Amino acid sequence: MDLQLNDKTVVITGGAKGIGEAIVRLLAKEEAIPVVVDRDSHATDKLCEELVTAGYRCETAVADLSEDGACEKVVATIKKVSPHVDALVNNAGVNDRVGIDDADTEMFLGSLRKNLLHYYGMVHHLLPDLKKTSGPIVNIASRVALTGQGHTSGYAAAKGAILALTREWAVDLRHYGIRVNAVLPAEVMTTLYREWLDKLPNPEEHLANIKKMIPLENRMTRTEEIAAMVGFLLSPQAGHITGQHLVVDGGFVHLDRSLH
Ligand SMILES: NC(=O)c1ccc[n+]([C@@H]2O[C@H](COP(=O)([O-])OP(=O)(O)OC[C@H]3O[C@@H](n4cnc5c(N)ncnc54)[C@H](O)[C@@H]3O)[C@@H](O)[C@H]2O)c1
Repeated sequence: MDLQLNDKTVVITGGAKGIGEAIVRLLAKEEAIPVVVDRDSHATDKLCEELVTAGYRCETAVADLSEDGACEKVVATIKKVSPHVDALVNNAGVNDRVGIDDADTEMFLGSLRKNLLHYYGMVHHLLPDLKKTSGPIVNIASRVALTGQGHTSGYAAAKGAILALTREWAVDLRHYGIRVNAVLPAEVMTTLYREWLDKLPNPEEHLANIKKMIPLENRMTRTEEIAAMVGFLLSPQAGHITGQHLVVDGGFVHLDRSLH
């Protein structure tokens, strides 16, 4: 299937590592122009240099999106190098485990800053450009928005809000031909996931137990499998899909986890 993404400029927040990196690599190979927005300047430069050396295109805009005014500044930077913006993937986030009994309102707000406010900020500041190109938006959410996880109120609130905003924006932006969808990963081995796992008392035992609960093939979802869904949703091939919440998780959320 031709995704028809060649020459499309696609902004990917948190694009330097993990799921975002896989999306950037897929888009580069589809001959699009990924714009990596990430706070990790080293990983951002390393990834883009590798892609450019291999003959692909890639742009960068280093920023910590949780800081005040960061989205506006980053969009101004992007517009200096990109004459048009054809799509946005909101992906940057961190499961910071701000709970209900061991944190306070300030910490909760901090978590929303890391996981939610910049999703709004990036759409808000890129909207004039996205309206011109009818550019689709993909929001990376989490299965936590559907299942709960425990000990992570801020992250769960942010991810739940992202699902609601996906539908809200799909309604608001339909007259511009802008499609808005959400992708929900569950268990994907990335830097974020490894850091979380390594804080548990028996990480490898815990990982083995998680894999047992994933009905399809008892394995983690690969970053490339999330990227493939995102690439499809960004493509005109998904031209009549909007307001959807797509769970890419080997059946972890919706199938009976007692199946063996
Ligand atoms: N890995 C999983 O199993 C999983 C499950 C559900 C949802 N998710 C979601 O997928 C997305 C990506 O997660 P991942 O596992 O690839 O994480 P990761 O930590 O491996 O990569 C995240 C990238 O985003 C960047 N980033 C984070 N916060 C940022 C900020 N405020 N400003 C700029 N850059 C920032 C990091 O530097 C990093 O490069 C997140 O939204 C996460 O909530 C992941």
